[in-house]
Amino acid sequence: MNTRMRRAAVAVAATTMAVSLAACGSAKESGDKTSSDSAKKGDDLKIGLLLPENATARYEKFDKPIIEKKVSELTGGKAEVVYSNARQDATLQAQQVDTMITNKVDALIIGAVDAKGIQNSVKKAKDAGIPVVAFDRLAEGPVDAYTSFDNEEVGRAQGKALLGALEGKTKPTVVMMHGAITDPNAAQFKKGAKSVLDGKVTYGKEYDTKEWKAENANSNMEGAITALGKDKIDGVYSANDGLAGGIIQALKSAGVSKLPPITGQDAELAGVQHIVNGEQFMSVYKSYPQEDAVAAEMAVALAKGEDLGTIATSKIDNTATKGIPTVIVPVISLTKDNIQDTIIKDGIWTVDEICTAKYKAACDSIGLKN
Ligand code: GAL
Repeated sequence: MNTRMRRAAVAVAATTMAVSLAACGSAKESGDKTSSDSAKKGDDLKIGLLLPENATARYEKFDKPIIEKKVSELTGGKAEVVYSNARQDATLQAQQVDTMITNKVDALIIGAVDAKGIQNSVKKAKDAGIPVVAFDRLAEGPVDAYTSFDNEEVGRAQGKALLGALEGKTKPTVVMMHGAITDPNAAQFKKGAKSVLDGKVTYGKEYDTKEWKAENANSNMEGAITALGKDKIDGVYSANDGLAGGIIQALKSAGVSKLPPITGQDAELAGVQHIVNGEQFMSVYKSYPQEDAVAAEMAVALAKGEDLGTIATSKIDNTATKGIPTVIVPVISLTKDNIQDTIIKDGIWTVDEICTAKYKAACDSIGLKN
């Protein structure tokens, strides 16, 4: 397990390097082009960035600034990123696409709230000559490129960690708290997790969490506790850290003193703190810088009318489009044991951020240090 994790970490580090090297290459190339080739679009680009929500820290703390920085690096500081966040509102996101079209952006990066619902907007952008990069979630419609993490692997990592934590129990009762049905990743997390858990645990209660909201996970968990009994829940599969927060609260309010193992995803600050003090068993660390670098490279290349041959490493189909150029980034299972070597090392959260007064003793006991 440890070796595997270490190997995964090495793989990620290697990919980070590949991505940054590729980024350097394109930056140089695009610089050369502007000076020598004025017929093609230069670096003076407008890239639209639409992210789905702002309750999960990743989008505005990491994805937005990293994509902005990368776009700037790739274009010698000449391109502008125009940004909007849909705050989980698919109707609002459709309006934001319209605004981007009116603004005549040169390429659009979309993290769809509702991957199916966004289809018409993607088509409108395409008809207006604006290439679309599907970001993190595979939007439907004529998208030109896609980047995400290995989402089934996220689910398998969660499932494996949960099984490990429940070792020794026969057919333990597990509550399954999945993500939003409008998010295709949620289905992949579920599929990956079930491929590991099926036949080995009893699914006590199972929920799809509307809009990925912690408060909805909280009330679903209250329902599960009422239905199953507070001491009859051996473990909780939670699709991400936000949901885990709502689940932990529900268990504590019901008077559960020793929390069952609970999974998560996103290495959110609160999630990491819950892992440190033992309230959450694991999370999944996804290297946002890698995914963001790829999204920026794809958008800049498409905006310039270049093909994605050197950037994309695979292809994927959505319902409307076959062979979408794709980059899938690997993920790391995050537990107490590797917080230091992953998120602290990568500068995602500092020890000072994680180890506030409340978590100081727990941090010391697992030896976290700057
Ligand atoms: C998923 C995404 C996760 C998490 C979740 C909630 O699509 O891959 O990282 O943020 O949505 O927004």
